[in-house]
Amino acid sequence: MREFIITRATESDIKEIVLIDRDCLDGFWSETSYLGELENDNSEFLVISAGGEVLGFACVWFYCQEGHLIVFAIKPEYQGQGLGSALLWQILHRAHHYGVEWVVLEVRVSNTRAIKLYEKFGFAAIGTRKEYYADNGEDALVLWCKGVHTAAFKDKLVKQRQEIADRLQGRGWLWLERLKQLQHS
Ligand SMILES: CC(C)(COP(=O)(O)OP(=O)(O)OC[C@H]1O[C@@H](n2cnc3c(N)ncnc32)[C@H](O)[C@@H]1OP(=O)(O)O)[C@@H](O)C(=O)NCCC(=O)NCCS
Repeated sequence: MREFIITRATESDIKEIVLIDRDCLDGFWSETSYLGELENDNSEFLVISAGGEVLGFACVWFYCQEGHLIVFAIKPEYQGQGLGSALLWQILHRAHHYGVEWVVLEVRVSNTRAIKLYEKFGFAAIGTRKEYYADNGEDALVLWCKGVHTAAFKDKLVKQRQEIADRLQGRGWLWLERLKQLQHS
């Protein structure tokens, strides 16, 4: 069984994060941008890692009642095992903890894999942004997940966590929890 944890990103993670960004997000952000996120008080910048290897990362900005998921990726060789679900779960858990009412994000209309994952967590489309992506002029679908601050949402999260952890265990992954840094309560 391989253990993994989800923690806040630190400077020592950035080089690996930039490589994953290049592979998964076509170089969405530079090393300087990621380093800047470490200093951004409105940003929750998380990494999922195992034995010191960064498996993926996510960055969400919190403003007023809103969380905005800006970047989210799992290293290609680790995709499809449930690790993205664990990280998205943690993002939504942090959003509930911060008391925001909804989480919003943009995703390429062609990115059916990510869209399916978001829908599983209750995200729904609220519109499109035309030619949002500069590289190929692709439209972005705007998805949001509402009611994040409610007790019902928290109950749903608790159930989902067990399902995700069980599935991961079936793939040989053990989700270590109760880190001081990211209490689940
Ligand atoms: C999107 C991403 C983060 C998901 O991470 P992941 O670890 O593969 O996700 P999971 O293994 O938890 O899969 C969760 C769900 O995603 C969908 N999914 C995963 N692999 C899929 C595939 N090959 N085809 C279609 N759907 C797939 C499914 O809905 C799956 O749930 P299921 O297996 O119960 O059907 C990852 O694919 C990635 O980094 N992609 C490139 C970067 C990216 O697109 N980021 C999002 C930008 S908005």
